[in-house]
Amino acid sequence: MKPKILVTREVFDETLDYLAQHCEVESNQQDVALSPDALAKKLADREGVMCALTDRIDAALIGRCPRLKAVANIAVGYNNIDLAACTARGVMATNTPGVLDDSTADLAWALILGAARRLTELERRVRGGEWKGWRLKQWLGVDVHHATLGIFGMGRIGQAIARRAAGFEMKVIYHNRKRIAPELERRLNAEYVSKEELLGRADFVVLQVPYSPDTHHLIGGAELKRMKPSAILINSTRGGVVDDAALVAALRDGTIRAAGLDVFENEPSLNPGFLDLHNVVLMPHIGSSTESTRRAMAMTAAKNLIAVLAGGEPPNLLNPEARGNYR
Ligand code: DGY
Repeated sequence: MKPKILVTREVFDETLDYLAQHCEVESNQQDVALSPDALAKKLADREGVMCALTDRIDAALIGRCPRLKAVANIAVGYNNIDLAACTARGVMATNTPGVLDDSTADLAWALILGAARRLTELERRVRGGEWKGWRLKQWLGVDVHHATLGIFGMGRIGQAIARRAAGFEMKVIYHNRKRIAPELERRLNAEYVSKEELLGRADFVVLQVPYSPDTHHLIGGAELKRMKPSAILINSTRGGVVDDAALVAALRDGTIRAAGLDVFENEPSLNPGFLDLHNVVLMPHIGSSTESTRRAMAMTAAKNLIAVLAGGEPPNLLNPEARGNYR
């Protein structure tokens, strides 16, 4: 008998075909987000779930799913999953690292350029008929080239962002929980600095840390005050890493120049203050959203799921300690 699994959001046909070779699959191809109760009911008799960051996989849910063995997140970030609860119950959890690094780095760069050169603001002005002709001092932006790029979190995506800075001849500084190897620093031409130094020196502060209790409001009012008034903040990692209310205030009163945001606290609800500001580029959590990358993410998650259910080693296991508790 094939194991029963649930796919909580719409996925691509090739992913479903692959899963169906190994499992009895129910997929939410209507893509209507499931409430916690609906999710628990659907998972009550299932061994695996392929889920998204919109699904909360917590202790309460796991307690209601006695047969669950595998949770395969279609994302590299996994703050929607209570790993400790999974481990305690022998549920193996996986994510999708690697396949989205370049697309996500590209989007961070789109935000850097978009905020520096006011792309979305000025497009709105052109569409609104405000452009009456060329003027020397018209809608001035700031230079990206030769500026200082400060990257918080020098993991795979942070490194991909740093590599792209070479083309703009930027100075790259970074802060990370752990300093990266000297050889890698040399290749990326990146200088390790303290959090305070990064905030004080960077023209562009780019956040690339995962969300956790440790990084909750990593950037709040005090940190924004440490930044240069000319600096631009980029958050394309997770909502909650930035205190959005403090950022709205800082953008409004000129504490910093601008921001580029792909993620928000409580998304898709936005702090309404952002909507009244011109100096912020707002994107709907699309960092990894290119056709090929989203296909690769879904397939990576599917392979992780099948590997667990086949009793093997999933390529992207987040909680190896769960193995001892595996039923
Ligand atoms: C991730 O992989 O964590 C992304 O945010 C999902 O789009």
